[in-house]
Amino acid sequence: MLTVENLTKRFGANTAVDRASFTVERPMMIGIIGRSGAGKSTFLRMMNRLTDATEGKLVFEGRDVLQLKGSEKRLWQSDCAMIFQQFNLVPRMDVVSNVLHGTLARRGTLATMFNLYPREDIHRAIDILERLGIAAHAAKRAEALSGGQQQRVAIARALMQDPKVVLADEPIASLDPMNAQLVMDDLRRIHDEDGRMVIANLHTLDTARRYCDRVIGMRAGRIVFDGTPAQLTTGVARDIYGAGADFSENATSTEIRDPVATAVIRAAEVAV
Ligand SMILES: Nc1ncnc2c1ncn2[C@@H]1O[C@H](COP(=O)(O)OP(=O)(O)OP(=O)(O)O)[C@@H](O)[C@H]1O
Ligand SMILES: [Mg+2]
Repeated sequence: MLTVENLTKRFGANTAVDRASFTVERPMMIGIIGRSGAGKSTFLRMMNRLTDATEGKLVFEGRDVLQLKGSEKRLWQSDCAMIFQQFNLVPRMDVVSNVLHGTLARRGTLATMFNLYPREDIHRAIDILERLGIAAHAAKRAEALSGGQQQRVAIARALMQDPKVVLADEPIASLDPMNAQLVMDDLRRIHDEDGRMVIANLHTLDTARRYCDRVIGMRAGRIVFDGTPAQLTTGVARDIYGAGADFSENATSTEIRDPVATAVIRAAEVAV
């Protein structure tokens, strides 16, 4: 389904992603972990064609993604929706319009300029908001919503594209534990119920373990681990994060169910 072969991105002398290779046979929920600067975001950005790869190949269902140009590239970007840590909504625009923006790739410029959306698209947007439990906020400005609600609007916008793949770059890094859990539950449902592939960069080990079928560990641009959550032992995690013998899982772990512990861990992370 997805084949990544020697995917490489260099910024000058710095190699952000270094000959990354892996294959995915069926839609899965995949977590990518690794310390800051490991190349996680750069990988997602290459996959979505937000940035060009220096070398390598990425084939999705027979599509040679890195070679796509013009309308084919835009079609791919609509099949491969992206969710960001900072939500990237239009703050002053209402929630439904933000969600309808997900149809932008396949709409004409004029219709977009005048905010003209087909009635069936509006209905679909509302249905998606309902599915995510935030339809009551449909008419509010995006900026009036909590972070967790805004991230769910971003997920709704992604779903509006009816994507085959959902890429999420640290989707819960700015959220409190409760909202983090809701957003991860939504991403998991999108995978389970719709059969979409989800690839999420995650900054916490336990989130990757709890929600993903497969975890890819990156270190200095290389894939140094590719396996199941069960195979992701403390020793392996220590390797991925390049930590010493004093490595504690908590140092990279946000305990979703326990806000106090999370606050303590966050404080510890800041101190490091
Ligand atoms: N636009 C850019 N120009 C130059 N260097 C870049 C650019 N984007 C990323 N890099 C470099 O590439 C490397 C990988 O960065 P990337 O953002 O992919 O890491 P990351 O794993 O997502 O880290 P984080 O957990 O902090 O988000 C880093 O050394 C970074 O400085
Ligand atoms: Mg990143």
